[in-house]
Amino acid sequence: MPRTHTRKLFLPLIIVSVAVALSGLALAQANKSISPMLTPKLQELLRKEMQSINDASQKILAALVAGDDTRVAKLAQQIHDSFILRQSMTPVDKAHLMTVAPEGFVQMDRDFHEIAAELAKAARAGNRPLQHEQFGRMIETCGACHAQYATDRFAGFSE
Ligand code: HEC
Repeated sequence: MPRTHTRKLFLPLIIVSVAVALSGLALAQANKSISPMLTPKLQELLRKEMQSINDASQKILAALVAGDDTRVAKLAQQIHDSFILRQSMTPVDKAHLMTVAPEGFVQMDRDFHEIAAELAKAARAGNRPLQHEQFGRMIETCGACHAQYATDRFAGFSE
């Protein structure tokens, strides 16, 4: 009697475990953290770039609410030009990044810097509604990239 009971529970348990393992695998493939694939030098460059754009985007928010177009333009342009990922990279670093970084990551990085340029342009034109729109798009891109490529760093995106 206890034996059949155990057996009855055993199969569903296996099925459930396999399903959980498979869905975990699918998730891990969809959200691939990029940092562990990089050399220590590139990891450091990426973190430095992130810290500097984090800092700049907070300053942009402060400038936006103060109506300081000139400052928004300057900071957004700084983000666009930063590309530390490119600036401080030797050709060898760059080749390495291009081999490990998924196409989607490179594209998102490109889009992000493009939006920063659009924001700078809107600020130079003194167009406030457009600045707000571009700032919103920029912040969305931060989270979108983290959710896909930085789930090990930001646990909130790993669920
Ligand atoms: C193209 C992808 C991408 C975009 C866009 C992006 N990030 Fe990141 N960010 C990353 C990755 C990948 C990491 C994880 C780096 C690591 O774990 O070493 C990261 C890490 C960070 C960190 C943590 C740095 C540290 O010291 O560990 C901060 C802060 C950050 N990002 C802020 C931002 C902000 C703010 C924006 C938008 C204004 C942004 N990021 C846009 C990919 C991106």
